Amino acid sequence: FNKIGIIGAMVEEIELLHQNVNVTNQVTKAGITYYEGQLHGKTVVFCKSGVGKVNAAVCTQILIDLGVDSVLFTGVAGALDPRLNIGDIVVSSSCVQHDMDVTPLGFAKGVIPYQERSEFVADEQLIKLATEASERLFEGRSLIGKVLSGDQFIASRDTVRELYETLQGACAEMEGASVAHVCDLNEVPFVVIRSMSDKADGSAHVNFAEFTVTAANNSYAIIDDMIQHI
Ligand code: ADE
Repeated sequence: FNKIGIIGAMVEEIELLHQNVNVTNQVTKAGITYYEGQLHGKTVVFCKSGVGKVNAAVCTQILIDLGVDSVLFTGVAGALDPRLNIGDIVVSSSCVQHDMDVTPLGFAKGVIPYQERSEFVADEQLIKLATEASERLFEGRSLIGKVLSGDQFIASRDTVRELYETLQGACAEMEGASVAHVCDLNEVPFVVIRSMSDKADGSAHVNFAEFTVTAANNSYAIIDDMIQHI
């Protein structure tokens, strides 16, 4: 990987990139600024996509058009897998858009009609780098699992149960599967790293406010370690 794209959705999720990347060039397109520079001697381009699948999709396509050969996503998520606690890490095995629902036409939930793939598989080598990083930094507090994305902040135990049981999601967030989809269309390898800011339940809004900075920094720590070993 010679030029690595790194996306976060919110300011908290790219704050440590601003602090650690030696930026040499920047360009703004479609309202998103892309910062190119060096991190541990590697060329990276990072940006803040904004929240949600449309922002993330536009951002990812532009990042790819700027010439990155891989895409890492860093940020926070709501836990769905009951083994996960706040602060823990999910490395994406794959990503699915959980709010894609064409069930009235007979398609299973999450399936994009008339398209070869709806579950986008992350890159094996990037998964390995992320897993090794999380074992070094968060031993026993990380897992590889399916990341579910939708334009919804999940804040109910019933929804958590449904998403965990019907789609086997490890965590829920609002961008990963959109990034993954665009990477798949462009045949660019990706992985999504998420640290849990909340458990997507009735306390999610309170926990999110309290733990987003810590969780975002945990996710950055994985990215930082990955770049050192890439
Ligand atoms: N990002 C962080 N927590 C989330 C949640 N509960 N639902 C969706 N996105 C999130």
